[in-house]
Amino acid sequence: MSFAVAIDGPAAAGKGTISKAVAAHFGFAHLDTGLLYRAVGAKVRDGAEPVAAAQTLQPQDLEAGDLRTPQVADYASKVAVIPEVRAALVDFQRAFAARAGGAVLDGRDIGTVICPDAQAKLFVTASAECRAERRFKELTGNGIEVTLEGVLADVIARDTRDRERAEAPMVAAEDAVLIDTSDLTIEAAVNQAIAVINAARSART
Ligand code: CDP
Ligand code: CDP
Repeated sequence: MSFAVAIDGPAAAGKGTISKAVAAHFGFAHLDTGLLYRAVGAKVRDGAEPVAAAQTLQPQDLEAGDLRTPQVADYASKVAVIPEVRAALVDFQRAFAARAGGAVLDGRDIGTVICPDAQAKLFVTASAECRAERRFKELTGNGIEVTLEGVLADVIARDTRDRERAEAPMVAAEDAVLIDTSDLTIEAAVNQAIAVINAARSART
């Protein structure tokens, strides 16, 4: 039986960290849908046409080495406003969500557009300063040269673009549970997410 968990929220809120932990806890598969847009963004940076890049995306494109850089994130959020790019990525995400054994998908529009019928929906947020600081530590820890001010400006610009686009904007689904991780440890945030999913599971049986 399928069971889909939708985890949305702004940049560096902790979506991926929480998704991986809950997927491991419940034995569900996990898809970081941001990687799809990052992979298209990387191809566009290298000269591809955005819609063609999205329509011909291959699983191995998600393994490219530099998808986590701020440059690729910026390209990703720019291709993500194009309706035909988003449309080309829908079937793959929905098929993933429907897999037997359960799935966790994290992104911006999972609870609203990709899986409006998801059994559990979370919207994970934190203050922009807090998110920028975490992303700064993560990037510098991976040897990527950035400044805190630069990361904060990037995060704010990307959030604004994601929130204000016409197609599938970033917004909490009406039935999503909000988790603000600003003052939470990773463990506390994960435990809140697990509690929400457990409640959804018992409501279903
Ligand atoms: O997937 P998303 O961009 O929303 O965020 P992430 O990659 O899961 O988290 C960004 C960074 O914040 C990672 O380095 C996490 O370890 C860290 N983090 C944290 O410090 N506290 C939390 N409650 C959640 C994430
Ligand atoms: O890790 P972080 O939260 O910084 O970004 P991401 O989840 O990897 O997403 C990169 C960009 O892809 C976002 O800024 C969005 O523009 C786009 N995206 C989207 O439009 N819809 C999704 N479901 C996931 C990502």
